[in-house]
Amino acid sequence: MEKKVKVGIIGCGTIADVYMTNLTQHYQNVELAGAADLFVQKAQEAAEKFQIKAYTVEELLADPEIQLVLDLTIPAAHYSVNKQILEAGKHCYCEKPLALRFEEAKELAALAAQKNLMCVAAPDTFLGAGLQQSKAIIDSGVIGEPIGFTANMTCAGHDLWHPNPGFYYKTGGGPMFDMGPYYLTALVYFMGPIKKISCYTASGRPVRNILGVETRTEVPTTYTAILEFVCGAIGTMTMSFDTWSTSLPLLEVYGTKGSVYAPDPDSYNGPVIVYDGEKLKNIVEAVTEPHPAKIITMVTNQHNCQEEAKMEFPENPEHRANMRGLGVSDMAQAILDGRESRMSTDISVHVVEALNAFEESAKTGSAYIMQTSCKPTAPMGKDWALWEVR
Ligand SMILES: NC(=O)c1ccc[n+]([C@@H]2O[C@H](COP(=O)([O-])OP(=O)(O)OC[C@H]3O[C@@H](n4cnc5c(N)ncnc54)[C@H](O)[C@@H]3O)[C@@H](O)[C@H]2O)c1
Repeated sequence: MEKKVKVGIIGCGTIADVYMTNLTQHYQNVELAGAADLFVQKAQEAAEKFQIKAYTVEELLADPEIQLVLDLTIPAAHYSVNKQILEAGKHCYCEKPLALRFEEAKELAALAAQKNLMCVAAPDTFLGAGLQQSKAIIDSGVIGEPIGFTANMTCAGHDLWHPNPGFYYKTGGGPMFDMGPYYLTALVYFMGPIKKISCYTASGRPVRNILGVETRTEVPTTYTAILEFVCGAIGTMTMSFDTWSTSLPLLEVYGTKGSVYAPDPDSYNGPVIVYDGEKLKNIVEAVTEPHPAKIITMVTNQHNCQEEAKMEFPENPEHRANMRGLGVSDMAQAILDGRESRMSTDISVHVVEALNAFEESAKTGSAYIMQTSCKPTAPMGKDWALWEVR
C-alpha cells in the first residue's frame, strides 16, 4: 500500500503501548509520526521504543503533515484535547468517551461539522470479527426481530490492576463511563438508537486503596438499568466495579425466532452462538411426558437440551483479541477514499448522551428520554484486509 495517513498520538499512558504497536506494525495505511504527553519523559520513552518523534502537544498539533490525531488521554481531558485537535484542523479519533458531558459532545460534533472534520470516539471493537459476525447474523433475520437483550460487565474494579487507577473513581470514571461504551456501541450497532433509559446506582466499596492511599470514590460503582430501543427491543444493563464473581452473560440479544450470544464487546474476536427457536420448539414438543417434563426441558434444563438447537460460529483465526487501532485505520482509509469513518460522530454523541442519562435517571428517579439518534454504520467487509497478520 502506497498511500498512508500521518497520525499523531496525544497521551502516552497504559493503553498507548498496544495502539503504538498495532499502528507501527500491523495497520498498513497509517504512519505513526509521533506522540506527545503532558509529561515530556513519557513521550520520549514511547518515541524511543517505537522509533517515532517525541513532540510537545503544541508541536504535534502544529505539524502540518499530521492529518489525524489519536487522543489517548484520560476521559476528563478528552473534551479539551479533542477541541484543540479540531481547532488545529485535524481529524480526531479519541479513546472513549468522546467527552464527559452531553453538551460538550454536541459542541465537538458541531465544531467538527463546521470544519468538515471527522471526530469520533472508541470503541472500535464493533469492527472486529466477533461483533461483525453477530451483526451479520442479526441482520440475516435468523433470530427474527430483536425484542430483548442483556448486557453485563461486572468485576471488582480497576484499582486491582491499573498502574494509575485514580481516574476510574473520579467524575467521568466508574463502570458505566469506562465499560458502558463497549456494550452501548455494540447494542446500537445491532439494533439502532436508544429511546429511553431508567437506571439505579449503588456504591459497594466507597473507599478504595488507590496507590496505597485510602481514597473516597466520587462516582457510583454499580449501575443497573433498563433500556428501551427505538426498534422496540427492551433489556437490562449492569455495569459494576463491586462484583467479585458472577455467572451473568456479557451480551445476548433475544429475537422473535431465536437468540444470539455475542462475544465480549471489549474484544475483537470470539465465538458467536446462535439458538434456533424453531428447533427448540421441536425438542420441547418431542418430550412425550406432559408437564412438568416439558417445562423442565424448556427452562430448568435448557442448556443441556439446547445442544441440538445450537449453532456455533467459531472465532476468526486471522483476528487477534486486541486489534486496537482498527478504527484509526478505518478513519485513515476514509480520509484516503473521501468517505466517512465507520465509527460515526452521531454514534459517539449518542453514547455520551446515554452515559449521562444513566446518571440523570438515577438522580431524578425518572426515565430519561433520549434526544439524539444515530444510524448503525455499514459493515466492515473487505476492509478487514487492512490488518496485516504477522
Ligand atoms: N488502560 C486500559 O486498559 C484501557 C483500555 C481501553 C481504553 N482505555 C481508555 O484509554 C484512555 C487512557 O487510559 P490509560 O489507561 O492509558 O490512562 P493513563 O492514565 O495510563 O494514561 C493517560 C496519559 O495521558 C496523559 N495526559 C492526561 N491529560 C493530558 C493532556 N491534557 N495532554 C496530554 N497528555 C495528557 C497522561 O500524562 C498519561 O500519560 C482512557 O480514555 C481509557 O478509558 C484504557
